[in-house]
Amino acid sequence: MFINNDNKDKCKKILNEVVNNGIDFKVDQKFLKKIFKKEKKDDLLKISKNGVEIEKLVTLFNNEIMPYCSNFSNEKFMSFPDAGNSIAGLVGSIYADLLQQNLINSTFCAPIATYIEIAVINCLRKVLGYTTSKINNIWDVGGIITYGGTGSNTTAIMLARENHRNKTMEHGVTNPDEFITIIPKGIGHYSIKSACMWLGVGKNVIEVETKAFKYDLDALKKILIKNKGKVMCVVAYVGDSRTMTIENLEDVYNLVKSIDENIWLHADACHGFSLAFSSKLKQRIKGIEKFDSISTDPHKVLDLPYCLSALLVKNPQKFKLITSTSDLIMQEDYAFGQITPFIGSKSWVSLKLWFVLQNLGLNGIAKMIEERMHMAQNLKQMILTSDNLVLLNNVEMNSVVFMYAPAKIKTNIDLLNKVNKEIHDRIYKDGEFHLHQFSLDDDLGVIKKDEILYPLRYMSGNPNITNKTLKEMVTYVEKVGKEVLNEWSL
Ligand SMILES: Cc1ncc(COP(=O)(O)O)c(C=O)c1O
Repeated sequence: MFINNDNKDKCKKILNEVVNNGIDFKVDQKFLKKIFKKEKKDDLLKISKNGVEIEKLVTLFNNEIMPYCSNFSNEKFMSFPDAGNSIAGLVGSIYADLLQQNLINSTFCAPIATYIEIAVINCLRKVLGYTTSKINNIWDVGGIITYGGTGSNTTAIMLARENHRNKTMEHGVTNPDEFITIIPKGIGHYSIKSACMWLGVGKNVIEVETKAFKYDLDALKKILIKNKGKVMCVVAYVGDSRTMTIENLEDVYNLVKSIDENIWLHADACHGFSLAFSSKLKQRIKGIEKFDSISTDPHKVLDLPYCLSALLVKNPQKFKLITSTSDLIMQEDYAFGQITPFIGSKSWVSLKLWFVLQNLGLNGIAKMIEERMHMAQNLKQMILTSDNLVLLNNVEMNSVVFMYAPAKIKTNIDLLNKVNKEIHDRIYKDGEFHLHQFSLDDDLGVIKKDEILYPLRYMSGNPNITNKTLKEMVTYVEKVGKEVLNEWSL
């Protein structure tokens, strides 16, 4: 049951089979083979008393569990970009599990892994335009690896809090009203609000009105002036979770810092950092390098298996604000554990990114991202030329937000939403395509300014996607929409 020299061949055989099954799963034609019925969930509570042989367990898993898993790497899975199908990424991921390095500490837990992780962070810093200098200890690195954008955003808010009122970590929050965080209204990711609550500064988040899914700068200015001295952080989205709109980064930077230099400016670029790899697209995120911190989510946009995020900080020394240590394990120059709040033992998740960076090269990644944006533009054109579909965002990145809205239902917002919800449900149940749905304020006024809409959303990061698949999806949505209207006698 535990690897040793006697059973190593058997072990290789089993792991080979697992890899084969996993790859077959990834290339399957359907993104969901079977829908798991909630009523059966209690059957899963049974755990073996006397154990099951690993071969039998693998067979059982293949037959009874895997078919119910959703396959993000299928081209028809068009809700989220996290395809997780990079070969180099999978190689790095498998190695990381097999090698069991613990990046809490360097010398005796992860001697070379620590330096590879530093190389990955250093590369992201350079790509995004942050300066890099000689690294003599962990406080020179200027970034940490976390398990997701939520973790990166939370650490950024913690840095903002300590930067605002030094030593809050030690003394606690005495007046939460003086720890305000500002986000754009209606498009923020929940992780910022949650982070504020997790970090004890309460739900002191002010949501500022937007114009075309970006800060209304006049409204932002008024709020900053009114709350001067109490704002600890302003968050800008470099690709918001719904429409992937890119904030006016330089304008926000200039405005915020002209009112209060000490406000921490955080760029949530979990998606948009990917544009920095391309010399053609980089211009769109100009100004990001001026922000105090940047969240990146390679697991969303570089086709890596979960989970991997990096938080980059312009001034590496700022990590001293949130350093905590213990002589039990971490007191040494390169122990990452000193600057990774909420994380103790940490696996070598950055290895999969190292493999992808080395395998595609920076130019290969640039090409992949450019092609991704190009596909979204192609879909945008298909929607614009359809009589039945309307486009709700400007498609600045890879998110295309649209609705089935033939003239006869377009002005009845309730009905329009009902029809689109029904289309979304039917599409999911059919298992043909996977599109996302959420509430969205019609900030561009395409249907009606400021009405809440329930659109369909395409967003892909899968390099295997083709125009043919996009066309099939559009035709399919129109077909299902027509069926709904017919059945509902509309
Ligand atoms: C803009 C943005 N920020 C942060 C997150 C959170 O990332 P994660 O799911 O990796 O924690 C998301 C997730 O969708 C996101 O879209």
